[in-house]
Amino acid sequence: MSPIQNEPTHRFLRACRNLPVDRIPVWMMRQAGRYQPTYRAVRQKVGFLELCHSPELIAQVTASPIDEFGFDAAILFSDILIHLPAMGLDLSFEKGEKGKGDGGPKIANPVRTRADVDALKIPDPARDLPYVAAGIQAIQKTLAGRVPLIGFVGGPFTVASYAVEGGSQGFTRLKTLLYTDPAAAHALFEKLTRAAIVQLQAQIEAGAQAVQIFESWLGELGREDLEAYVFPYLARIAEAVRPLGVPSILFSTTTSTHIAPMAKLGYDVLSVDWRIPIAEARALAPDLAMQGNLDSILLLGPKALLLERTRKLLEEGSRRPGYVFNLGHGITPPTPPENVKAVVDAVHAFPVPRG
Ligand code: CP3
Repeated sequence: MSPIQNEPTHRFLRACRNLPVDRIPVWMMRQAGRYQPTYRAVRQKVGFLELCHSPELIAQVTASPIDEFGFDAAILFSDILIHLPAMGLDLSFEKGEKGKGDGGPKIANPVRTRADVDALKIPDPARDLPYVAAGIQAIQKTLAGRVPLIGFVGGPFTVASYAVEGGSQGFTRLKTLLYTDPAAAHALFEKLTRAAIVQLQAQIEAGAQAVQIFESWLGELGREDLEAYVFPYLARIAEAVRPLGVPSILFSTTTSTHIAPMAKLGYDVLSVDWRIPIAEARALAPDLAMQGNLDSILLLGPKALLLERTRKLLEEGSRRPGYVFNLGHGITPPTPPENVKAVVDAVHAFPVPRG
């Protein structure tokens, strides 16, 4: 048998392509973050945005969970809102600066009118976000081929929710914009889609080997609005990534009722939350690989329950190839690092079913 050309060797990339693996690959959203003493030490010295602007610190923070826990993939350390200043929005993470408090994003001049939408610029990654590509190159040097690197952007709906509300303040203004001025809403999603695509292209060109679209808050919309305002834009992003040859992952939460239509958008992997049993989710998307879906709060303990649920998820998720172990959403700051290590070790000890 001759090997398929370009068949990936890393187990994470193999799972994304529905290929057999030696061990189930595992990574966790927010695997680099405040639950790590090493991350908190960096944040004692620099603000969150300052960290995202430093290629050296990006590489250090991105690689640290690989060294500490043995994850099978790294994810670029950045943020889904990183490009908003280049679009003309005044972004800060004030309260979280210098290691204090919960650094929620704030936008001083949120998008409220059609004129605000029209004033938004499409970022030029090479000119406006050079530290992202430089960060990716620095990460690749640090990782030296040990594990693949995932790049990412925010989905248009999720980024719009921050751009319109001015921070993590809910969805009423954005949904009202959809219902009162659909043309302005489409113009906004159009610009955020173009901004997402150029960033993904730049990240892949710089060395990202997979990409994840964070559409975290999709569950806020019903099917009719998803079909009108979200799915067409997400399909365009998938279509733009496909010729670049890296697998694409669509992440969202509270969307278990929309798995079948989301499976048709052109992504290789769907990342699902804990609101649906993994086997049920896989049955709804039979051709795709799937990522998820341990409840992040289980990582707080008790450890016996955490390991019991991990084992059950492995059994139910891995009945056929194309399974990536992950959480349903990100690691939370109070997580004991030893519990993260225990889950990674349990995933790697699990014998992959054959056939
Ligand atoms: O997953 C990773 O480890 C990669 C890095 C990453 C961050 N943010 C780092 C971060 C990624 C992929 C994101 C995505 C992101 N950013 C999302 C979608 C993911 C999700 O959780 O649903 C959203 C909604 C944002 C916007 C954002 N950034 C918020 C709402 C906050 C404050 C809330 C919080 O968790 O602190 C941030 C700040 C942020 N982004 C932190 C980190 C590690 C904490 C900043 C700090 O160090 O104080």
